[in-house]
Amino acid sequence: MKILLINGSPRKDSNTEAALNEVAKSLNEENIETEIISIKNDVKGCMACNGCYKLGKCVIDDIVNEVAEKFKTADGIVVGSPTYYASTNGTVISFLDRLFYSASYDLGMKVGAAVCTARRAGTDTNFDVINKYFTISNMVVVGSQYWNNAFGRLPGEAKNDEEGMQTMRHLGKNIAFVVKCINDGKAKYKINFNEEHKMTNFMR
Ligand SMILES: Cc1cc2nc3c(=O)[nH]c(=O)nc-3n(C[C@H](O)[C@H](O)[C@H](O)COP(=O)(O)O)c2cc1C
Repeated sequence: MKILLINGSPRKDSNTEAALNEVAKSLNEENIETEIISIKNDVKGCMACNGCYKLGKCVIDDIVNEVAEKFKTADGIVVGSPTYYASTNGTVISFLDRLFYSASYDLGMKVGAAVCTARRAGTDTNFDVINKYFTISNMVVVGSQYWNNAFGRLPGEAKNDEEGMQTMRHLGKNIAFVVKCINDGKAKYKINFNEEHKMTNFMR
């Protein structure tokens, strides 16, 4: 079982990285494999060319396609983003738009979790923005004992946010449990939803 962790901070030794490391450590203790991938700040936005419909992957061959390939076989994804202007960092949004729009495989019952860092405010919107990608993809969202936030301003400062770090460790334990349950459940149950997706676009 494997979980990908996406670090959306452009900074070295960032707070987002510190939070994700804590989640990963906790997952490893439960024998879940992890890979932390830093997307830096070099991700173009979606061009709405729909080329991915034909290609099965994004026409821009960069970190998005690299992660898409790994996400295919992973059991879940944790997306970490610093809060910028009370929302998700623009690079992370570009990354997620293209990853989720171009993923040509079934994401159903993979787990997803958002991890948000900030100096002081705006994590709520950041958290909501990230979770929207999971909840339109038949994924299972995992939470912790508090919303998955860690606070700090300078790189690495969030390591001193005791509650934030504990929230991350607890998130790791919850993800491990849910992934194991889904794995067992898949062997036992089926999801019998075989209707074609109706796309009415608010027009009849
Ligand atoms: C462009 C920009 C906008 C920011 N906006 C906010 C904000 O709205 N709220 C906040 O609390 N911190 C804000 N911050 C501070 C970062 O969220 C904070 O330093 C965070 O710990 C950075 O995470 P990182 O170390 O993983 O990059 C902003 C920082 C930058 C560079």
